[in-house]
Amino acid sequence: MPEERSYEPDEMDTGYIYYNEKVIDHFLNPRNIGEVENPDGVATVGDPICGDFLRATIRVEDGRVREFKFLTQGCPGAIATSSIATEVAIGKTLPEALELNDNDVVKAAGGIPARKVHCSLLAIRALHEAIRDYLARQGNGKGDGHEAADNH
Ligand code: FES
Repeated sequence: MPEERSYEPDEMDTGYIYYNEKVIDHFLNPRNIGEVENPDGVATVGDPICGDFLRATIRVEDGRVREFKFLTQGCPGAIATSSIATEVAIGKTLPEALELNDNDVVKAAGGIPARKVHCSLLAIRALHEAIRDYLARQGNGKGDGHEAADNH
């Protein structure tokens, strides 16, 4: 009689990647896609691992991120996590937004496959760059203690 085996799909041995329902929903219905009209800050960043990139535009009001939109040439993980990142960041003060990192996005997503964690950095890096762009336009981009940690 053949030995009975249970089989748990594993992305490493099947080559498939499993996204949870929330991540799939954000991929199929991304929030805050596009560009903010007359943005206060703009940034385009690339992912050194895969070469994908993301453009972020923000509107700042009363020291908070009021709008944050993105356009990306990226994988489903990048689209979904960027959409989630916009929801996490909108409403935050600039110092709070600068403190965000990819762990905050992964947590808000309810987890993403390990192989896709780097994709979740795109929107956060672009957000930080867009905030720096905003601060530079305000003439206080340096030495105000708001610079983000380097998350590369
Ligand atoms: Fe390039 Fe996900 S593989 S952003």
